[in-house]
Amino acid sequence: MKVTFALSAIAALAAKVSAACFSERLGYPCCRGTEVVYTDSDGKWGVENGNWCGIGNSGSSASCWSQALGFPCCTSTSTVYYSDNDGDWGVENGNWCGIIKGGGSGGNGGNGGNGGGNATPGEQYTIQGNPFANVEFYINPYYVEEVDNAISQMSDSSLIAKAEKMKTYSNAIWLDNIKNMQSWLEPNLQGALSQQNSGGTPVLTVFVVYDLPGRDCHALASNGELLANDSDMERYKSEYIDVIEGHLKKYKSQPVVLVIEPDSLANMVTNIETTPACADSQTYYMDGHAYLLKKLGVFANVALYLDIGHAFWLGWDDNREKAAKVYSKVIQSGAPAKVRGFVDNVANYTPWEDPTLSRGPDTEWNPCPDEKRYLEAMHKDFTSAGIQSVYFFSDTSRNGKKTDRKHPGEWCNQTGCGIGARPQASPISGMEYLDAFYWVKPIGESDGTSDTSAKRYDGYCGHETAMKPAPEAGQWFQKFFEEGLKNANPPL
Ligand code: BGC
Repeated sequence: MKVTFALSAIAALAAKVSAACFSERLGYPCCRGTEVVYTDSDGKWGVENGNWCGIGNSGSSASCWSQALGFPCCTSTSTVYYSDNDGDWGVENGNWCGIIKGGGSGGNGGNGGNGGGNATPGEQYTIQGNPFANVEFYINPYYVEEVDNAISQMSDSSLIAKAEKMKTYSNAIWLDNIKNMQSWLEPNLQGALSQQNSGGTPVLTVFVVYDLPGRDCHALASNGELLANDSDMERYKSEYIDVIEGHLKKYKSQPVVLVIEPDSLANMVTNIETTPACADSQTYYMDGHAYLLKKLGVFANVALYLDIGHAFWLGWDDNREKAAKVYSKVIQSGAPAKVRGFVDNVANYTPWEDPTLSRGPDTEWNPCPDEKRYLEAMHKDFTSAGIQSVYFFSDTSRNGKKTDRKHPGEWCNQTGCGIGARPQASPISGMEYLDAFYWVKPIGESDGTSDTSAKRYDGYCGHETAMKPAPEAGQWFQKFFEEGLKNANPPL
């Protein structure tokens, strides 16, 4: 059976390559010296160590147009996510691939209908009030691809059914370095636009702007590509923010939400005195915010939310008081930009409500021991501090239940976590300043590596309740994804 499947899969592969050995591009090694057992349009195949391998450099290179541009051809998908003058693009293993006309083998389906095409932006869209209301949420095809790969590693049918549902929910797209921004911003704006143009309902895409110089100054796991120095600040402005600005200017007819630089301002509130890297980053964080607000906060179709950490970070009275000052100053520094509000609990695990806790020794006297009480308090404080627009949305990707953590300061890949409330607009009646629950952290992507020899190893990822072994931040973490599915609350 296995052999039959492998043969038909190979026969279906559409890529034609001209590498040293043609099969490497298709995921099969080159043969070291063996007989031909099968030939198809890709070339000659042998078997070594029970595995298919390619013989020689056969196959025509003519039809794999994307190879010349440095991208492989798609081998198992024909779903178009983006089209340009070069051709139609798909996504495989988190990478762009070229779709050969008349080729491909099936596609992954169920990706929210974001087919490609050269959709042309129409009239200016203006967000009025809550940007999450009366829109469809864009589904990130890359995430669908990650989930499809995850499903291919599962055998439990009830878990597979839960995983399948994950492909129908939206989550944020992290522009976590210059290259990823180039790869993900425009194609996904295009994808959302073509969906919007064909369906008629506005399609909202949520991006995370995440590349400040000296990023993640109080931890190591998500340290970024840019360092806290003047030349990297220049790169942040010209190669990252200005490019984002250009795309947002162009895609003016669709709603967009931007999550601004997770953890950065919360670090400015609590960690400047204690952590030298945060002191070193201060100028760049503040200057970076002023710059990005002025550039990105001026579009009628784009709503900005500044990250405010979570209840067990800024929830204490003194931290909230300081926070109100820091955030108002930042917003003023970005004038005349508009900031819609704030986003809490990004990539954290704090439950939305936890009636078992109240201010006392157990909460280290934090009066805001869950996200709901945190937002209630922040709403009051920020409003009294004179901030004009005080709305929130809350990341509920992984806070469906209490995790195994014994201290709320644990943030890395917590065991016992469960997927939380599904993305939805205006989820709590009576809390009119809560715009949405939404999934900012893509469920299944790691918080940080547990490899103690890695450059970005952070001790928190080695703690008792951090699941191990864990891959680098942002990489797929299969076991962790499965844990989240099993513990989802509400259940999937
Ligand atoms: C990582 C990013 C990643 C994001 C989403 C962050 O912790 O640093 O690289 O894109 O998580 O998984």
